[in-house]
Amino acid sequence: LPFMAGAAMAQDYPSQNITIVVPAAAGGPSDTVARLIADKMSAEFGQQVLIENMGGAGGSLGAARVAKAEPDGYTLLLYHVGVSTFGALYPNLPYDTNTAFSSVGLVTDVPMTLVSRKDLEAADVAGLLDWLKGEGTGATFGTAGVGSVSDLCGRQLSEATGIEFTVVPYKGTGPAMTDLLGGQIDLMCDQTTNTANQIKAGEIKPYAVTTPERIALLPDTPTLAENGLEGFNLSAWHAIWAPAGTPDDVRNRLSEALQKALADPDVIDRFATLGTTPVAPDLATPAAMDERFTSEIERWSKLLAGAPAN
Ligand code: MLT
Repeated sequence: LPFMAGAAMAQDYPSQNITIVVPAAAGGPSDTVARLIADKMSAEFGQQVLIENMGGAGGSLGAARVAKAEPDGYTLLLYHVGVSTFGALYPNLPYDTNTAFSSVGLVTDVPMTLVSRKDLEAADVAGLLDWLKGEGTGATFGTAGVGSVSDLCGRQLSEATGIEFTVVPYKGTGPAMTDLLGGQIDLMCDQTTNTANQIKAGEIKPYAVTTPERIALLPDTPTLAENGLEGFNLSAWHAIWAPAGTPDDVRNRLSEALQKALADPDVIDRFATLGTTPVAPDLATPAAMDERFTSEIERWSKLLAGAPAN
């Protein structure tokens, strides 16, 4: 009987390796969060929790891989707010965002930073916007592709300022960062998990944070709101998705292991040095994630209505 099969599965779950698909290149912010969590879940389960990086199309390729996987708890997706935008941005998305997934839990909410190559001459946000107006499409802005959170930030920046620039998509902001460090691209709006260390090392230039308030890790970096871009409020909430139909007991077992990982002092410390904190235990649950995901799909569908297709 399906119920019995489900119950049996949950009882001895996990009985084999688990794959977490990160739909972005290794070395980027999503990968950083995923590997920290996977290590702790491996220890908890006594099974390997393996990361599979699958970049491309803003993360929607990797999301599609998980949407079509067996709903047995052995193939999961760890990504962020971008998953709630793919339905609005990809007319031919091979799955329905509203029905393809089931929730495991929220993980962390990562602030974002507007950063440039270190030799860009603008001294502050006002100067940067003047420079961008002067450069027009000569200015390059690295992202992880349409629907990535670095892309969403670029869209909101363009919308708020009326300034266009050339978007350069990568398979993740890990590789995009390599080009920013090399001066091949001018700007990026990326998560502190990927930018904090480079900012501290003086290798890239921080202009602003995208959160309503300044962040403790970068006390001297102003918010975009302080610079006249009121209402700019973007942070990359990360979560773990499973294919629709993954049994509740399996997802609850995963949520328990996720909550333990998020309470681990090692994870808390590593997140803090990267500018973020784990969500509270009650948010690392299927119910809380269902609520967030549903409301975010609605929010971004409105924000992105009429957005240029991919
Ligand atoms: C994004 O911009 O969506 C992420 O930074 C992608 C990544 O983690 O590489």
